[in-house]
Amino acid sequence: MMRKQLLTALLALGCMTYAGAEINRLVVEPNAKGAPIPSTMYGLFFEDINYAADGGLYAEKIKNRSFDFPTPLQGWNAFGKVEVRNDGPFANNPNYVRLSPAGHTDKWTGLDNEGFFGVSFEKGKDYRFSVWARVPDGGTSKVRVELEDPATMGEGQDKCAKEFEVTGKDWKKYTVTLSPSETVSKGKLRVFLVKPETTVDLEHLSLFPTDTWKGRENGLRNDLVQKLADLKPGVFRFPGGCIVEGTDMDTRYEWKKTVGPVENRPVNENRWHYTFRHRFFPDYFQSYGLGFYEYFLLSEDIGAEPLPILNVGLVCQYQNHDESAHASLNELQPFIDDVLDLIEFANGPVDSEWGKVRAEMGHPEPFNLKYVGIGNEQWGPEYTTRLEPFIKAVRAKYPDIKIVGSSGPDSEGKQFDYLWPEMKRLKADLVDEHFYRPESWFLAQGNRYDNYDRKGPKVFAGEYACHGKGKKYNHFNAALLEAAFMTGLERNADIVEMATYAPLFAHVEGWQWRPDMIWFDNFRSMPTASYYVQQLYSLNKGTQVVPLKMDGKAVAGNEGQNGLFASAVKEDPSGDIIVKVANTGDTAQELQIDFKGLKKKQHYSSVEITTLHADNDAENTLDNQEIVKPKVENYNADSITDMNVSIPAKTFAVYRFKK
Ligand code: AHR
Repeated sequence: MMRKQLLTALLALGCMTYAGAEINRLVVEPNAKGAPIPSTMYGLFFEDINYAADGGLYAEKIKNRSFDFPTPLQGWNAFGKVEVRNDGPFANNPNYVRLSPAGHTDKWTGLDNEGFFGVSFEKGKDYRFSVWARVPDGGTSKVRVELEDPATMGEGQDKCAKEFEVTGKDWKKYTVTLSPSETVSKGKLRVFLVKPETTVDLEHLSLFPTDTWKGRENGLRNDLVQKLADLKPGVFRFPGGCIVEGTDMDTRYEWKKTVGPVENRPVNENRWHYTFRHRFFPDYFQSYGLGFYEYFLLSEDIGAEPLPILNVGLVCQYQNHDESAHASLNELQPFIDDVLDLIEFANGPVDSEWGKVRAEMGHPEPFNLKYVGIGNEQWGPEYTTRLEPFIKAVRAKYPDIKIVGSSGPDSEGKQFDYLWPEMKRLKADLVDEHFYRPESWFLAQGNRYDNYDRKGPKVFAGEYACHGKGKKYNHFNAALLEAAFMTGLERNADIVEMATYAPLFAHVEGWQWRPDMIWFDNFRSMPTASYYVQQLYSLNKGTQVVPLKMDGKAVAGNEGQNGLFASAVKEDPSGDIIVKVANTGDTAQELQIDFKGLKKKQHYSSVEITTLHADNDAENTLDNQEIVKPKVENYNADSITDMNVSIPAKTFAVYRFKK
């Protein structure tokens, strides 16, 4: 029995059971041999939706920096004599601007950039402004760059400024550092010709904070990457999602366009700018500044297996009902080559065609890619007939690469029932399942994977989130039900190889889809209740499943189980046993956690109890990030062999028994 010290501590906290209350006896077998937990088990899904990339994770502050949006001056406000020209130095981004003398001593030529929901900048930080420029007629021209606060009541709008000279007819890159005197969230960048004016050409105007993640020049936002790193994710899926497919062939995601010098990566439309008419963002494009090289690097930084998803020759099937919108079976070779070349880009030697590109970008060592997904939410024979030649080609050249196929957009039903057997027939290694479902679905899915065919393929729960009925925000109850459902993922770690909540990021002023795991504005970011659920699983994922039963049955929210869901794992080499329990009911439940088959001297000396609890509708906000947050308590005792504890109503708890 648990020793007196621990009993006293728990009683003092009101955690212990009271005489007469029904006891839920959870029997854990710490010495039984269970399935190993895959290192990839809990991971991340990234898509450029909700301004997750441009305007989010990608730290660039200038929108339409190369003037290559379909409306070339979108995001810019030009004044004086500004002309857009299209014979610039970067073939894939041909546009640039010519600034000519305003023609009067009191007039000016230049342009402002509005940034993403404003150009934000902070006092005490440095910003690297860079631009490609030339003087078309030769000689020298002077350019001034300012960070401005257009709404200031102070004397001057400029919060810092630098002037620099541009010389000669050849395009060159110029860089200056800006150190603002004030913090401004909705600022602007202003660039203009200094008098006496000489015509100048400007291309690829860029502004990055110098304190990006790992200080990289084409860098990512520190606070956002840190939040990902803090999740210790096992896998990182990119670049989506629907943007893999595109609304049409021209707008599908093509990874080859996203590598090499950033100045020459072409702009692509972002389908999320028009997907929802009620949340319409006509300025939402993909600069590809955050491209496949950066995604691989990020996966490496945060210790996650990279999992790229590539186009299977189908554009979005929701948006296209005519076969001619897709690539036909005899047009698939370039798509198949994209997959094979990507594997070479990630893993190939530096003297291979694509390995060389990787090496030239700064990473001669391979990225050690192990998985590739082919197709996003595809369905029907139009998918499987296309997938087949991809699988053959990858197997022939890269037999060790694991292939992820799709089970379509639905968690069950006609397409799902067609695709799973097809994935078996095609011998996909994993099947990507998606489920954005209401509370009732999550409550009923505790046993979802218990009876899946163990012969495979394995499951990749590649996009999921509880969408509260009538409230699509990150309220606590949705996160609690995700936690409950995840006990079933964990218990079935022999068949579930990875799971990624979706979507990952959302800008508070630019979202199209919610709930999302992490919200941010231009300065701040905030973990949601769902973030904490993911983190509690990931930091406590253990190395091996151990059986946990109540009355001889898995605890999965079934009848007579009092709204409880539970799972248990062992963590080696520490030997800790971690029990996760979600109480989805409206009343506290008394738990008795018993260890079966404990050997003499195999007792635990402390328990760390982490609980996540809040009101059903509670959610964190950027201003108040403490509303939903895990609470940790520690109890020590000489020798723990079991534990009686009360889990409050609507609570997710992680009990870590330490040796
Ligand atoms: O996560 C948002 C979208 O949901 C994804 O792009 C798509 O795969 C799914 O429909």
